[in-house]
Amino acid sequence: MFMPNRTLLKVIVLGDCGVGKTSLMNQYVYKRFSKQYKATIGADFITKELEIDGKQIWDTAGQERFQSLGTAFYRGADCCILVYDVNIVKSFETLQNWHDEFLKQVNPSEPDTFPFVLVGNKVDVDGGSCRVVSERTAREWCASRPGNIPYFETSAKEDYNVDDAFLCIAKTAMVNQ
Ligand code: GTP
Ligand code: MG
Repeated sequence: MFMPNRTLLKVIVLGDCGVGKTSLMNQYVYKRFSKQYKATIGADFITKELEIDGKQIWDTAGQERFQSLGTAFYRGADCCILVYDVNIVKSFETLQNWHDEFLKQVNPSEPDTFPFVLVGNKVDVDGGSCRVVSERTAREWCASRPGNIPYFETSAKEDYNVDDAFLCIAKTAMVNQ
């Protein structure tokens, strides 16, 4: 059986401001959701012990420029969660930048197999009627990247698929260690 040599995984959450990075983390870790928007400044991390492993989740600010966080911040990342808002096309279009910048900063030995997970958040908004990025489009983006990027549609508000997404992240990161 595969045994990870470390018990803590460093997971970095990236995406445009307001897509719900902090909300997803708060829902996953504390089972809490707030309607109020408080933009993240810089970066923060929280940990949640899992049965299978420990996880260290780093939340970042969508507003910040990557460079301002510094390369040291990304060092040792085991996995990257890319988050977009299914109701805002721009947040989907900038995924490629987040993806490329992350790889540039982390500079992993095997970038093609580095574990990313894509999350399309806010599927609850107006019952999905104002959604602009389809599940199919998102899955096509995943398929067009090197490696096999898992995709999850979530609602941090309704606690839909949040646990599944984070569990997949832990597994993906461990397999790749
Ligand atoms: P930055 O820290 O600025 O980069 O933003 P963020 O990505 O951390 O977004 P945040 O979690 O702060 O959420 C922004 C707003 O969207 C808040 O008002 C949240 O309540 C709301 N929000 C987050 N997730 C969802 C969701 O799944 N559904 C709905 N309806 N609203 C959400
Ligand atoms: Mg935030």
